[in-house]
Amino acid sequence: MNGSTSFYSTEEEFRQYLMRASYYTILQKSLVSLVPSDSKVILDLGTGTGSTAMRVARKCRQGIVHATDIRQEILQLAEDIAKREDIPNIHFAQADMDRLGEYLQASKLQPDLMTALYSFHHVADPLENKQRVVNEMYAGLKKGGKVIIAGLYVELDPKDPGYAAAIEQQYLMRCEEAYISVFWAVLREMLDAGKSLEDTLNRASQVAEYSKTSELNAMRGAISRAKAEVPEYLVTRQQMRQIFENAGFRILLFKPINDIGEAVLLAGK
Ligand SMILES: C[S@@+](CC[C@H](N)C(=O)[O-])C[C@H]1O[C@@H](n2cnc3c(N)ncnc32)[C@H](O)[C@@H]1O
Repeated sequence: MNGSTSFYSTEEEFRQYLMRASYYTILQKSLVSLVPSDSKVILDLGTGTGSTAMRVARKCRQGIVHATDIRQEILQLAEDIAKREDIPNIHFAQADMDRLGEYLQASKLQPDLMTALYSFHHVADPLENKQRVVNEMYAGLKKGGKVIIAGLYVELDPKDPGYAAAIEQQYLMRCEEAYISVFWAVLREMLDAGKSLEDTLNRASQVAEYSKTSELNAMRGAISRAKAEVPEYLVTRQQMRQIFENAGFRILLFKPINDIGEAVLLAGK
């Protein structure tokens, strides 16, 4: 497992850590539960290994999910998983969220649902750039359509005094949550599978430690933003609400799912 970047690049890496972290699983469940099952054209942005997009595809049997990511190699992996899991109504395509309008025009897609789990924060600073992308979302969405963005939020703007200290405090809590939730998830799985207690404890500690390191890397991305190897352009919930309202969306729901920063936004056109 390579802890140097917050972009996982193998299925194993994703399964070892992210899929077992309490905040990822709850966020994903919350997003999927908000998906209208009669959605026809669904666009998933920053799909990664496609875990969320595939769950959405299973829920929307009459629809087709267009699962997009900027990285071709992760799309290949996601496509292999979808084939192996026999999910026919999902299609993978390379697309840069930062150029959403262009992608929608070129692909002639008019989605009735757009989803993004832990990916919208990759749209770069400044805030005006995120505003432009959300305006393009609104323009490209079918009338009556919905957008569900599930992700992480911070308390302060980077220009506010105390931003770095606030991020550090938030990520210390995230590191603890990552360690504890992943440790216990691995422990349960291995003991259930009949592994020895010694092997289980060693493995659970190793994966939990890796999870903590990944959160620490993400913290650096959130503090240094454009200067980081993998920037995390996190915004506050107030900024996100404002951007969506400015674009013309109705905010139908915008609720935290825990006290370490995750929240789900459901907006309608
Ligand atoms: C944490 S992962 C997303 C997890 C995924 N949505 C899921 O449900 O498991 C973030 C993804 O966003 C992608 N990404 C980063 N910048 C992007 C961009 N500008 N456009 C599209 N995808 C991007 C990364 O390649 C990465 O796969």
